[in-house]
Amino acid sequence: MNTLLSIKDLTVAVDEKVLVNQVSFDVPQGKIVAIAGGSGSGKTTIGLSVLRLLPSALQIRQGSIVFEGQDLLKLSSEKMRDCRGARVGMVFQEPLSTFDPLFTIGQQIDEVLAAHTKLSKQERYKKVLETLSEVELPDPLRAYKSFPHQLSGGMRQRAMVAQAIVCNPSLIIADEPTSSLDVTLQVKIMELFIRLKKKNISILLIAHDLGMIAHLADEVVILRQGEIVEKGPVERVYKQPEHGYTKELIEAFQ
Ligand SMILES: Nc1ncnc2c1ncn2[C@@H]1O[C@H](COP(=O)(O)OP(=O)(O)OP(=O)(O)O)[C@@H](O)[C@H]1O
Ligand SMILES: [Mg+2]
Repeated sequence: MNTLLSIKDLTVAVDEKVLVNQVSFDVPQGKIVAIAGGSGSGKTTIGLSVLRLLPSALQIRQGSIVFEGQDLLKLSSEKMRDCRGARVGMVFQEPLSTFDPLFTIGQQIDEVLAAHTKLSKQERYKKVLETLSEVELPDPLRAYKSFPHQLSGGMRQRAMVAQAIVCNPSLIIADEPTSSLDVTLQVKIMELFIRLKKKNISILLIAHDLGMIAHLADEVVILRQGEIVEKGPVERVYKQPEHGYTKELIEAFQ
């Protein structure tokens, strides 16, 4: 099985405080790997490290993040920009902060395509509308023409998924991708992720929801206070958790 993303000994700190401590795990091609753990355990910090989008106070002290054979931590800022959006799509925890309030959703997704592909304006328009319909937005044209504040939270979240997948990335990092959705839409986004996986796309899924992880993920990494306490195939971890903290998490969820 090919490894698409390999994180080794990742350590992130702010001043003297270590937020992520020697975290190592792999994301194989075409698989969904979930990071689970309590609030503040460092899940988002790991996702942002892969994208090199950490707030400036947070520093990567140690480790490597090899994606498609290259250590992302050693890439120039320019190469990293090419990679972001094109090879790695991102769905952030806070959909409002992703979109610029001054431009329509369509313009903003179009911009990603324009930056990373050679498609003509017309081809891009078609692709953006197709992608908006792929994420189950009921009226793709309306969503295209809407400003971010004109959509509901759930619609914005789906628009963000559309932006993440529009360039056909090989990896998607999804941080709580269904947190502002009702159950029906959660199921639709989960179905979308399963379709993406069938296209051999890998997903690094960051989630609180152990039910969603059980449904979607192949492997799970359990994080506590910045450290991995346990990792492995979802079925094994859920059925025979080796660590007390994993048991607690699973019991709290049931
Ligand atoms: N800019 C920052 N400056 C200082 N500490 C920070 C900063 N951002 C995050 N932290 C700290 O890093 C730790 C990990 O935060 P992170 O956001 O990665 O957690 P999380 O697992 O994603 O939590 P949640 O489930 O609530 O989203 C927390 O203790 C948080 O307080
Ligand atoms: Mg988070």
